[in-house]
Amino acid sequence: METSTTNTRDLKKLKIETHLEVFDSLSELPIDIQELMNKAHEARENAYAPYSHFKVGAALRLDSGAIVLGNNQENAAFPSGLCAERVAVFHAGAMYPGATITTLAITARSLKHNVLTPIPPCGACRQSLAEYEVVQKTPMAIYFMGERGKVVKASSVKGLLPLIFDSSYL
Ligand code: THU
Repeated sequence: METSTTNTRDLKKLKIETHLEVFDSLSELPIDIQELMNKAHEARENAYAPYSHFKVGAALRLDSGAIVLGNNQENAAFPSGLCAERVAVFHAGAMYPGATITTLAITARSLKHNVLTPIPPCGACRQSLAEYEVVQKTPMAIYFMGERGKVVKASSVKGLLPLIFDSSYL
């Protein structure tokens, strides 16, 4: 994403461009990304999604090479559940505090219909991911897909969440 660090209060007009890469299939990607996405597929199958029947898996790689998993965890009190991406980053934060997340792979499938388009992280997850990226001062690459088919790559959370709200505003 191309923006400057200009103070938005002083702006008259701001144009934001996002550059994402789209791959026709997972097999076009490097083997380490394929491996990470395959871990996300495995995590996805263990999602607890009895209400939406929409299973999401996330796998992230740390700079140490360690892989941390997450999947969506739903709840009868619907807002008490959590998305796969936040389960994964909070899992990493709990297990490896201070580690740098280099890559995140996300996959989704529905038990009701075929999910063949890439499924991007929701807004709340983007905000949570942004916090980690800002703190680690290193971009994390994000790859997302449906149950099969095209894979989209964002080189940074910034590509998915323009005008990130972070602690510098507090
Ligand atoms: N979900 C995720 O896990 N990640 C997202 O980014 C979007 C939605 C989950 C939440 C809920 O369990 C189900 O998908 C349907 O919204």
